[in-house]
Amino acid sequence: MLKTSVGIRLLSTSRKSVSVVGSGPSGFYTVCRLLSKSKEPLDVTLWERLPVPFGLSRYGVAPDHPEVKNCEDTFSRCAKEFQTRNASGHTFRFFGNVDIGKDIKLEQLLNSQDAVVLSYGCGGDHKLNIPGEDTANGVFTSREVVSWYNGHPSFARNEKLSSFNWSRVKKVGIIGNGNVALDLARVLLSNQIGEVWAQTDINPLALEKLRTAPIEEVKLIARRDFLHSKFTNKEFRELWELERFGIRGVIRPEFLDLHEIDEANTDRVLKRRVEMITEYMLPFDQRTKKNYKKHRPPKDGFNKQWEMDYLKTPLMINSDAEGNLKSLTVCANKMTPDNRVERLSNQTQDYEFDVLITSLGYGSNPLDEFKSLNIGFVKNHVANKQGAVLNTENEVIPGLYAAGWIRKGSSGVIASTMADAFEVADAVLRELPTSQPRKQSTIDVSNCSFTTWNDWLKLDAEERRRGQEQGKPRDKFLSASEMLEFLNKK
Ligand SMILES: Cc1cc2nc3c(=O)[nH]c(=O)nc-3n(C[C@H](O)[C@H](O)[C@H](O)COP(=O)(O)OP(=O)(O)OC[C@H]3O[C@@H](n4cnc5c(N)ncnc54)[C@H](O)[C@@H]3O)c2cc1C
Ligand SMILES: NC(=O)c1ccc[n+]([C@@H]2O[C@H](COP(=O)([O-])OP(=O)(O)OC[C@H]3O[C@@H](n4cnc5c(N)ncnc54)[C@H](OP(=O)(O)O)[C@@H]3O)[C@@H](O)[C@H]2O)c1
Repeated sequence: MLKTSVGIRLLSTSRKSVSVVGSGPSGFYTVCRLLSKSKEPLDVTLWERLPVPFGLSRYGVAPDHPEVKNCEDTFSRCAKEFQTRNASGHTFRFFGNVDIGKDIKLEQLLNSQDAVVLSYGCGGDHKLNIPGEDTANGVFTSREVVSWYNGHPSFARNEKLSSFNWSRVKKVGIIGNGNVALDLARVLLSNQIGEVWAQTDINPLALEKLRTAPIEEVKLIARRDFLHSKFTNKEFRELWELERFGIRGVIRPEFLDLHEIDEANTDRVLKRRVEMITEYMLPFDQRTKKNYKKHRPPKDGFNKQWEMDYLKTPLMINSDAEGNLKSLTVCANKMTPDNRVERLSNQTQDYEFDVLITSLGYGSNPLDEFKSLNIGFVKNHVANKQGAVLNTENEVIPGLYAAGWIRKGSSGVIASTMADAFEVADAVLRELPTSQPRKQSTIDVSNCSFTTWNDWLKLDAEERRRGQEQGKPRDKFLSASEMLEFLNKK
């Protein structure tokens, strides 16, 4: 690990320099595109708050979806190719463990670089803003639970989750039915199936706790109807396929009045979803399409189920005298002809749960300096026009861009995030030749204990080595201090 006592030079007089803030898929795809497309030699610097790269690919994507993390191979190949100056003349540098806005001011980057791309993602939570949400013991956000089981350095040993008594959890409620909610349902329902987790990099401390939970039922609660479900078909199907372990899906018939569907105006994806639900709801032997008869439910499998509940708005979270979660009060909704949700406030009911997870999408925050730098921030993202960041008067701020989730809010898969990053990188390359003169020539990193790309390679090799000993792809370091300690010993 490098700790310098002098400012480092991140630019030369003749070459253009670009800093990218955040090394998740959007930041790394931006870097790769800049380096592979620029005809002029470029100095590209990637800043990351954590000592390690890859953002939600490493700390969001479910541990039983390792193929999704293949993008990390692309990023690693790109870093390797440009880490030392090759024929292209580009340079690439990674600074991990540096929080832009705190350790290094954004203003410093803006003054010393020809372009800055913000790609720092959505690191917060959306709230329901209902009574009990912040006080009942047993209520978690999706980001807390996902970061915990994925071993995120700030959550791997999270006290609230680790000290919670999972051994009494039979009924789980999840609010929202996006793909993260489905990930959570799948992880929780298969908590005791060794073969699912043995060869994954799931946080072993979290798995140990989760395993103790005798979970019988997970209910996913949506405010809209089945046709407006937020999940995608592939993930929905994966949930149904848990029937190979005896874990069944339930959707009550009242939510499946699919005769109302206007066939002519229904898109292919929705038609497929309707076909899927129609077949899966039938007993195994009555299904006619081979596609939905892959795994015969075992006779001696688990007796667990998940349920998709619809047309409910959460009103209140109720706890017992000790402050433990007891139930969730919801009211029924109906969809209006113009597809708005209308509450039927007099139709309320209580659902009893032992754990409740709010899975409402990730929230984002402006950096502290946005105010003093007059950078616009609206509705969960940086104000921008096609990636060019706007000030609070809606004017483009020259040389400042946004990509990925911080550009658009917490929606989109890795493939769409890549397309977004490429669009922004292309705009940067178009505008670099006319960038404004820089005010400073160096960035002072004297107060930072930063990690380099080579440091990451050492951590990566160690995680893989430890994982191999246990028959899994990697065994993650579970805190930033353990990572830095390991590097200091090397
Ligand atoms: C739980 C979950 C599961 C998902 N599963 C899938 C899936 O299976 N398939 C799929 O295609 N997509 C999946 N996605 C979506 C995918 O993860 C996103 O599309 C993608 O990660 C967004 O990339 P990003 O770079 O914009 O943000 P992020 O991945 O969040 O990256 C942002 C990076 O910025 C860093 N950062 C934050 N603040 C600072 C700062 N001040 N200074 C420096 N660095 C900073 C963060 O540490 C992080 O590394 C999932 C998302 C979630 C939440
Ligand atoms: N395997 C994969 O490909 C994968 C896995 C995980 C995540 N992802 C992607 O990552 C992105 C984020 O996923 P996500 O599931 O976190 O978010 P999401 O897809 O936006 O889903 C959020 C859910 O929360 C509900 N919600 C939001 N605010 C609410 C409120 N106030 N009250 C009640 N319900 C509320 C939404 O309902 P409404 O629909 O009514 O707004 C929706 O059901 C998505 O693009 C997703 O596809 C992909």
